Amino acid sequence: MSQPIKVDEYQQDYQATLSISQPDGDTIEYPIPILLDTHGDPYLQVSSLYNETGYTLYDEGLRSTAVTESKITRIHPSLQHADEDTPHGVLQYRGYSVKQLATTCSFLETAYLLLYGDMPNEEEFNTFSEAIKSNRMLDKNTEDMIDLFDKKTDPMIVLSSALTSLAGRYESKYDMHKAEDRHEIAVRLIAKIPTIVANIFKHEQGQRALTPDESLGHTANFLHMLLSTQSKTAELNPDHIKVLDMILTLHADHQLAVSTFVTRCVSSAKSPAISSVIAANLALAGPLHGGANIKVIELLSDLQADDIPLILEKAKDRDNSFKLPGFGHRVYKGIDPRAEVLRELTHKILKSDPEEEPLFELALKLEEMALEDPYFTERNLFPNVDFYSGLALKAIGIPKELFTTIFAISRVAGWLAHIEEGWENDAPLFRPKQYYTGLKERPLNWP
Ligand code: SDX
Repeated sequence: MSQPIKVDEYQQDYQATLSISQPDGDTIEYPIPILLDTHGDPYLQVSSLYNETGYTLYDEGLRSTAVTESKITRIHPSLQHADEDTPHGVLQYRGYSVKQLATTCSFLETAYLLLYGDMPNEEEFNTFSEAIKSNRMLDKNTEDMIDLFDKKTDPMIVLSSALTSLAGRYESKYDMHKAEDRHEIAVRLIAKIPTIVANIFKHEQGQRALTPDESLGHTANFLHMLLSTQSKTAELNPDHIKVLDMILTLHADHQLAVSTFVTRCVSSAKSPAISSVIAANLALAGPLHGGANIKVIELLSDLQADDIPLILEKAKDRDNSFKLPGFGHRVYKGIDPRAEVLRELTHKILKSDPEEEPLFELALKLEEMALEDPYFTERNLFPNVDFYSGLALKAIGIPKELFTTIFAISRVAGWLAHIEEGWENDAPLFRPKQYYTGLKERPLNWP
């Protein structure tokens, strides 16, 4: 990829010019202001292009298009230090490295950072975490809605329906134009989604749901509601609580991933926060997005080491729709920094649990062979967050069918931060154009 020439950051009037030679011989000269982001990367500001020239940009999949300004999360596709043989992606929430946050802070502290722009002081964090604790309970309608579903229903579908129940209960009570109302909805959603997921699991297991335990922290309470029963309180492994909390921090935001882009779109229509989160949750369920970690485990569970070359050939076959789950990324052109943390984390957990070792060894072998294959290296296809997240979740006893709901428990913090930013900035309605190649007008001689 040819790198854009770094423009002189002190030149405020730097601009490009688009010259369009017209069929009639005229030439349109369209001046394009260049914006420089925090790191000096250049952006062509083309919002007036259509109105001034009649031309529309066509960028299928929005590969080269920024649709909003944001101060929340920064991703750099790939950096390669002299002493490293593999390029690494960079991920920062509000300027802090996600690796540092995952090892130093709790998920709730990170959620506060994403929502409000900086780390909380002790009093701010206590207020925030107490508000979360007191909002964990579900209303009876939402509990009953979960129990209406067949036990084998995809938990992401049940989660979306439970969120619809919350929308019915709360949205009419809140004015999204008021920051304090947006804050309250954010607290409710961060607090209730873990309870919904635990209730879904209990329903699936034919067990009664548990009441949230306010003496426990956010992640510990979720594991308690998942693993305890009415008759037996689970003995929670402190290492597992820490690992799950790190996994939640690593997944909390990721710029305009498709599910976050959806929250921006829905919010731009001035739909309330819960409606935006429902839409995002359905996007997250997609196998090319949050559903990939389940696909990784399913692949590894049926795989023998000798079959790895066959799997790689299948992934390379353009006539085959199979893509290697957990590999590749629209933005990263180096190893996803979250995958690196998760690989180390999984290795640490599994040392004490040889039973899960074979899948992890297989994953390491698959990664090693893929990164020796020019098809993957030439396309900058590296492990992404989903390649190891499923192994880490499996290693701490989370059932596979809940993997993507765990992603939602975490990513709701990022979705809410983007919803807040869109409302705070009174973002314009998202209404892109299309490249129409359908039929011209024709008379309706029918029936
Ligand atoms: C997440 O966006 C986010 O930030 C998402 C996420 C987040 O935190 O929110 O990071 C979470 O969704 C991670 C991604 C999880 N999905 C998967 O692991 C599914 C497998 N990955 C691929 O489907 C793919 O890599 C995507 C969808 C993730 C990215 O697709 P792109 O950017 O559209 O990639 P592309 O199609 O432009 O790929 C370029 C080439 C193509 O081949 P050629 O046309 O050049 O011959 O690479 C190939 C692709 O066919 N390719 C793969 C591949 N990924 C891309 N080939 C085999 N296996 C793969 N996994």
